Amino acid sequence: MASSSSSSTNLKIGIVGFGSFAQFLAKTMLKQGHFLRATSRSDHSELCLNLGVSFFSAFRDVEAFLGADNDVIMICTSIMSLTEVVKPMPLHCLKRPTLFVDVLSVKEFPKNFLLQVLPEESDLLCAHPMFGPESGKNGWKDLACIMLQMPCGEHDKMAARSQFLTHTIGRILYEMEINSTPMNTKGFESLLLLKENTVKDSFDLYSGLFLRNRYAKQELENLELAFNKVKQKLLDKMIYDQDIDDSMNNKERERN
Ligand SMILES: NC(=O)c1ccc[n+]([C@@H]2O[C@H](COP(=O)([O-])OP(=O)(O)OC[C@H]3O[C@@H](n4cnc5c(N)ncnc54)[C@H](OP(=O)(O)O)[C@@H]3O)[C@@H](O)[C@H]2O)c1
Repeated sequence: MASSSSSSTNLKIGIVGFGSFAQFLAKTMLKQGHFLRATSRSDHSELCLNLGVSFFSAFRDVEAFLGADNDVIMICTSIMSLTEVVKPMPLHCLKRPTLFVDVLSVKEFPKNFLLQVLPEESDLLCAHPMFGPESGKNGWKDLACIMLQMPCGEHDKMAARSQFLTHTIGRILYEMEINSTPMNTKGFESLLLLKENTVKDSFDLYSGLFLRNRYAKQELENLELAFNKVKQKLLDKMIYDQDIDDSMNNKERERN
């Protein structure tokens, strides 16, 4: 996927859910010479027309979308809407065994669900691209495009302690309304950037990282514990400081 030159194996790729991440992927896949179809809840027909993607309404044309000759069907819905989108799909309309690829940012949940509902003869690749419209806005060149293979549970454990934590801190900073000052340090500039990047992703995406990853709740609790620990250390220091102050004042009074 990292190469933008057209290859001899151009694929027919059907995309389910044509939101910001799918649009981002589509631009590169089109450059690579693949043929794209998309189906989505919202009407993205005009955008698709401009890009050169065939658009099928999720309400009227899903049968035609599935019945078309797709080599790969890529599932790019929000984490929270996956079951709502895929369950009612008339998968019997598929013409042949198809490779399904899901790109959701959690992995155990889509794997378990998709293995239940997809036709037995389908293949399933559960993937989590570690980049998106923000990190890839200046091209794919320096992005993490190597494939790391791991069990879905291991992915979720790691993602809860990295990606979910990052998004949570970014959202906390947003709630605190931190803004640029005339005396920003480099560290503070990193926090501002984190805040800005985090809230560009939908809240639907963020809540999915929490609700559909069984390791995320523990990390939220770890964060709270760590916050309280740091706070307590400062409060202890405050009491110690006050004690020193009081004893110095007493000595001063005794001298006078
Ligand atoms: N953004 C990233 O950097 C990134 C990176 C890696 C993986 N991902 C994964 O890629 C997927 C898409 O992410 P995203 O950034 O585009 O934003 P998102 O808010 O997670 O998902 C938006 C997509 O979900 C669809 N959707 C939302 N609610 C729906 C509902 N009730 N019924 C039907 N469709 C619904 C939207 O359809 P309409 O557009 O038709 O309304 C749109 O296609 C997510 O699973 C995310 O975890 C994202």
